[in-house]
Amino acid sequence: VASAAVAQSQLQQQARRCYSVSHLSVQERIDRKRNAALIGGGQKRIDAQHKRGKLTARERVELLLDKDSFVEYDMFVEHRCSDFGMEEDHNKFAGDSVVTGQGRINGRLVYVFSQDFTVFGGSLSGAHAQKICKIMDQAMMVGAPVIGLNDSGGARIQEGVESLAGYADIFLRNVMASGVVPQISLIMGPCAGGAVYSPALTDFTFMVKDTSYLFITGPDVVKSVTNEDVTQEELGGAKTHTAVSGVAHRAFENDIDALLNLRNFFNFLPLSNQDPAPVTECHDPSDRLVPGLDTIVPFETTKAYDMLDIIQGIVDEREFFEIMPNYAKNIVVGFARMNGRTVGIVGNQPKVASGCLDINSSVKGARFVRFCDAFNIPILTFVDVPGFLPGTSQEYGGIIRHGAKLLFAFAEATVPKITIITRKAYGGAYDVMSSKHLRGDVNYAWPSAEVAVMGAKGAVQIIFRGKSNQAEQEAEYVEKFANPFPAAVRGFVDDIIVPSTTRKRICRDLEVLASKKQTNPWKKHANIPL
Ligand code: HXC
Repeated sequence: VASAAVAQSQLQQQARRCYSVSHLSVQERIDRKRNAALIGGGQKRIDAQHKRGKLTARERVELLLDKDSFVEYDMFVEHRCSDFGMEEDHNKFAGDSVVTGQGRINGRLVYVFSQDFTVFGGSLSGAHAQKICKIMDQAMMVGAPVIGLNDSGGARIQEGVESLAGYADIFLRNVMASGVVPQISLIMGPCAGGAVYSPALTDFTFMVKDTSYLFITGPDVVKSVTNEDVTQEELGGAKTHTAVSGVAHRAFENDIDALLNLRNFFNFLPLSNQDPAPVTECHDPSDRLVPGLDTIVPFETTKAYDMLDIIQGIVDEREFFEIMPNYAKNIVVGFARMNGRTVGIVGNQPKVASGCLDINSSVKGARFVRFCDAFNIPILTFVDVPGFLPGTSQEYGGIIRHGAKLLFAFAEATVPKITIITRKAYGGAYDVMSSKHLRGDVNYAWPSAEVAVMGAKGAVQIIFRGKSNQAEQEAEYVEKFANPFPAAVRGFVDDIIVPSTTRKRICRDLEVLASKKQTNPWKKHANIPL
């Protein structure tokens, strides 16, 4: 027994010695790998990144998230390619070309990936894709948003189909996550080829001016296929996508500006579709009157005014985060708070094309309304719309199909819906703009509201064509229809309110509607006209 005890103690000592030796060496290797991961593609490439006015992947994550909140995953992951000399040590980078993990923005959980341009130009390897998929899967399971910071030369050319498969794995997750957790893309460098479809599938795409671009094919391919001469910036820069194509929702001055704005934007969003719209502490009295609104609508019905003045006057602290401010400016959409509660706002803009609805504004409005509805954000709609824009370019472009999107979006939305008709609500556009008939919960008219099939001049020309005394008929039409009463007597608006009391009324209504429950009939999914 004694010799057995001695033998056992010797074995234990030996094991302890071995363990401590291997433990030390493993620890050294862990530290070495971690340190390697922290410098990505090396100081030279970091300097090059800075020289272009861009931050590194890690600096971006640091700025985006609350201090010390970042928990990194997969720092030790390496690419698995063994072609073209990729298997050599100097071509292996700890963590590969993307930094992934989770952290907090103002204390609220978020999952993040940040592509590292210093490692193979941030190109997407199978391992890179796997890292992104891992955080997307976890975000879905716990119910938290995903933010992607994109800066990548696209598919890792050396990996071929492995990289394409990686993209498809991400696209599938983008689609599965759509309407479940908010997804935001910030483009901070190149994003080209099929890679653009991941940002396109997310809810919001933001860009950094001058240093980011998105396109299916670059200027060289464009030249060889269509013989067009176009610069990278003209083809897919921030200006193009925020003002012309509508692919991106906002652009910011530089990396720092973009990341700080993203933090601010994040505060408006619920964490998932199971989460109510966030409520923050509000110092702006909910019963605050806004006297300026009583005179904001010009007496002359054809004169313009700025719908943004109304929106900013009504919302908490005048803070309005506008989405797509430079695209389809005839409709205004964005987020604000009412008594601390996030709301989505849609408003016709009389300052631009008289606030007419056209193809682009319909699509812009529809996508925004659907986001709000998917994520439990009440919708406030401000109406001053003379109708849909007539003309061949609109008809040929499919205004019927596209206008139907906005109608569809408002009709299917089951979140609290409050509508304020400030002036014109003409024709089909009256129906579309969150009318009572599309299940508007509370619909108000200001005394300046005019709800009719069309304006007096057009109406009289049609129904009294060729007749004399058209001026008299016009006066009669105005008397009859150019006021809120025809809608109010039928209960199509719930009340005619004094404009200065609008904030107070809406805050009170939102309180009541907070417990609203409404469902649509069961279906696999609806078939919105695309
Ligand atoms: C592997 C890449 C790479 C890629 C860049 N690099 N893109 N490595 N695969 N796709 C490497 C470069 O070799 C270089 O390595 C480093 O990243 C930096 O690249 P540079 O060219 O020096 O930088 P810059 O001059 O800023 O140009 C950036 C760039 C250019 C415009 C992104 O690199 C480029 O055109 N890359 C190829 C883009 C492309 O065609 N991608 C495929 C798109 S199609 P060293 O070692 O020299 O630092 C696609 C299909 C997706 O993505 C389909 C999904 C369904």
